[in-house]
Amino acid sequence: MRELTVLAMSGSLRAGSHNTALARAAVKLNPGGLAIEIERDLGGLPLYDQDLDTGAPPAPVAALRARIAAADALLITTPEHNASIPAALKNAIDWISTAPGGLLLGKPVAIAGASPGPFGSVRAQLALRQILASVGAEVVVKPEVVVFRCDTRIGDDGALADPYTAELLRELLGALRHKASQLLVDCTE
Ligand SMILES: Cc1cc2nc3c(=O)[nH]c(=O)nc-3n(C[C@H](O)[C@H](O)[C@H](O)COP(=O)(O)O)c2cc1C
Repeated sequence: MRELTVLAMSGSLRAGSHNTALARAAVKLNPGGLAIEIERDLGGLPLYDQDLDTGAPPAPVAALRARIAAADALLITTPEHNASIPAALKNAIDWISTAPGGLLLGKPVAIAGASPGPFGSVRAQLALRQILASVGAEVVVKPEVVVFRCDTRIGDDGALADPYTAELLRELLGALRHKASQLLVDCTE
């Protein structure tokens, strides 16, 4: 089986983001068989506007849609904003979801999240699962990677300093690889 491509999207636009650090850690923790790239342009998308959602959408939207279409699977790392996902991430998903052909339909997606609080993005992850279910994505169910008190697990240098979280993230990537390869086999049968 060929290497599977994974696009990792962080829901945080912040330079020192813990969630972008998680995405970077995933690149290092690759259990094998995955080529993981980090999406860096969510902040460049315009706010979703149905008047702009034509056959010729804004260039950053077209570029993101092309990267999503080319990826075998997605990894989304999300902070929690007011008990849900951040606006930038919801905006990106809205743009992706209206692309012709339903780009998220059947797309394997793994999710993880980090927050300095005691609940570690768990409500954001629940909201994200609901959104992804509504667009027909194939979301990895377990393990759940909920990085609570993330400031004690991710160093100021952005390195993941907690072996337990690292192991969980590696397991999540293994589960994503399994789901994506199963779906590819089903498609070719
Ligand atoms: C507008 C706003 C709302 C927030 N709401 C929550 C929340 O509901 N629950 C939570 O755990 N943290 C909340 N936080 C804290 C974020 O989880 C925290 O800023 C986190 O570090 C952001 O992720 P990042 O490090 O990847 O940027 C909120 C932060 C902001 C700016």
